[in-house]
Amino acid sequence: MGKITAAITSVQGWVPEDKLTNKDLESMVDTNDEWITSRTGIKERRILKGEGLGTSVICINAAKECLRKVNCAPETVDMVLVATITPDMVFPATANIVATELGCVNAWGYDVQAACSGFLFALTTGAQFIETGRYKKILIIGADKMSSIINYEDRSTCIIFGDGGGAVLLEANTDGLGVIDFTLHSDGNGANYLHQKAGGSRKPATHDTIDAKEHYVFQEGATVFKFAVTNMSDSAASILERNSLTSDDIDWLVPHQANNRIIEATAKRIGLPMEKVMVNIQNYGNTTAGTIPLCLSDYESQLKKGDNLVIAAFGGGFTWGAIYLKWAYDSIA
Ligand SMILES: CC(C)(COP(=O)(O)OP(=O)(O)OC[C@H]1O[C@@H](n2cnc3c(N)ncnc32)[C@H](O)[C@@H]1OP(=O)(O)O)[C@@H](O)C(=O)NCCC(=O)NCCS
Repeated sequence: MGKITAAITSVQGWVPEDKLTNKDLESMVDTNDEWITSRTGIKERRILKGEGLGTSVICINAAKECLRKVNCAPETVDMVLVATITPDMVFPATANIVATELGCVNAWGYDVQAACSGFLFALTTGAQFIETGRYKKILIIGADKMSSIINYEDRSTCIIFGDGGGAVLLEANTDGLGVIDFTLHSDGNGANYLHQKAGGSRKPATHDTIDAKEHYVFQEGATVFKFAVTNMSDSAASILERNSLTSDDIDWLVPHQANNRIIEATAKRIGLPMEKVMVNIQNYGNTTAGTIPLCLSDYESQLKKGDNLVIAAFGGGFTWGAIYLKWAYDSIA
């Protein structure tokens, strides 16, 4: 029997219906469609509206369909990992809420907090449990309700983020398909440039922190941009080099959708034409841990068994990295 690898056997994205367009933002902050489009590539984002609806709603909707598509009974799932920085509550883990709601009664799991790299970190973590032979089926979900931590009076952040996410099913494979290699990194110095000041144990939420708007995302955009371009490009280039691949061997680059200029820089660095790059930032903005499964879902019908994918991300922490993955199935769509 060949080595066990962890293959994605199903994927499904989910976004709420309500749209927040660039035009809408023009009436909320001092910005305009032309600036947002040319500086980021974003045209609209989705917003999860409704009392009491948290990130678990996105996770459950995506994961339910992800399992249904391949007739996977929820009770056969061994583990559920949710990558998010906007959990329903500080505790318990959103993964626990999601697993129970899905009927994954035999699964255990937890949340992975690595901001925009969260899906990559969770996918890699889940893959280890499959590769050891310990587990057969793991749900990996990346989702964020960014609207819950965005200040809609701050034009430097509110134009970027949106709500959404997606789920993949990881299963054991012995034909050499699935996660082949990964290079992941984190650097706590990045906290200075991208963080949420209050609401954690260092600075619990108070009236004062709310008045100071410290429960929202703080971002030094230009600095984050520089680090994102360098690190996403470097890790994509490094995963190719480590696996003796050239751009001709790569069928798809799946980049985290933070800014179209970061995506283009990464593609250029590894010599890939934009036709081979998954881009849906125009529709959803940056959904943090949600962007990569949302991309895989939107492009699922174009993916073929054996396709070589490079998935790359950069985010708060800082966290970043790339995964080399062989797609495991032809879409039935
Ligand atoms: C946020 C981001 C889009 C801003 O783009 P930028 O080109 O770096 O813009 P800057 O912040 O340097 O600002 C340039 C000018 O545009 C202005 N500006 C900023 N936001 C604006 C907006 N929404 N509308 C109009 N003008 C805006 C600034 O005030 C500044 O004006 P000035 O030159 O008069 O001072 C960009 O930095 C970015 O994408 N950063 C990375 C984001 C990211 O990846 N975050 C998630 C982690 S992965």
